[in-house]
Amino acid sequence: MTSPTPAAGSVALVTGGTGGFGRALAAKLRTLDVTVVLADLDSDRARAVAADLGAHLVTLDVTDRAANKAVVERVEAEHGRLDAAFLNAGIAGKSRDTLDVDEFLRVVEIDLLGVVYGTEAALPALRRAGGGSIVVTASLAGLSPMATDPGYSVAKGGAVAFVRSMAPRLIGDGISITAICPGFADTAIIDPIREEFEKAGFPVLTADEVADAMIAAWTSGEPGAAYIIQPGIGAVPYKFKGVPSAKTASGETAVVPEALRPPSMR
Ligand SMILES: NC(=O)c1ccc[n+]([C@@H]2O[C@H](COP(=O)([O-])OP(=O)(O)OC[C@H]3O[C@@H](n4cnc5c(N)ncnc54)[C@H](O)[C@@H]3O)[C@@H](O)[C@H]2O)c1
Repeated sequence: MTSPTPAAGSVALVTGGTGGFGRALAAKLRTLDVTVVLADLDSDRARAVAADLGAHLVTLDVTDRAANKAVVERVEAEHGRLDAAFLNAGIAGKSRDTLDVDEFLRVVEIDLLGVVYGTEAALPALRRAGGGSIVVTASLAGLSPMATDPGYSVAKGGAVAFVRSMAPRLIGDGISITAICPGFADTAIIDPIREEFEKAGFPVLTADEVADAMIAAWTSGEPGAAYIIQPGIGAVPYKFKGVPSAKTASGETAVVPEALRPPSMR
């Protein structure tokens, strides 16, 4: 993935924007003359981070479907347009050895439904801007499930599937949707397990490395792609294996009926 610069004057929305990746991304985008709106839960920490960055901050709980729409409307009203939506808010589960269904549902609500609601909210604005980009922060756990966190694995795997299923239908509108799938990175989300990495000498990504990949996904990502980001590897598209096609009675490869394919694939 190359990383051409986003057009100066572009407007980007970043959910979970005051966390580790959001902060690193916002700092980089501001040097590129992009207007950045950070959306996050209301907290003193969020306000301090936004003030430090000199970035706009709006309060958003991504699990609130109507609030996602209201935030996008506010971005358009205050900044004139929306060019990129980074759907990045997320939490991980904490119960490593038991299946805590309440926690499972909470993680799915934030990490998966938050992405669906964010996409629904951003699409009309991106269409009004004449096209644009949605970059979803999934995780390596969405491609290689973590036995210690089924809720997170399901949510991130779902986010990758969502991106892949949405991409073909958005191409005609000039809208690209991609996923990034970082391995472990040095942000607050790994606080409970950071010591284990340090003890084992296990390399973790910096938030800056992930932010670079987020920008590249915006400007040059292949619609529907899921970019793995790992220490020492950089950002590389995951190669999905595909599944065997159905065969007709005469042994030929069956083609999915045209009406069941999105317009861009007919
Ligand atoms: N750091 C890693 O190791 C790693 C690896 C792969 C993927 N990710 C993903 O990257 C994304 C960003 O995480 P991070 O590493 O910057 O961690 P972080 O904890 O620093 O940031 C997460 C942000 O999301 C916000 N958030 C949580 N729930 C929210 C809600 N309901 N509505 C709005 N905002 C909410 C938090 O307030 C926080 O600012 C997450 O989706 C995470 O799952 C992180």
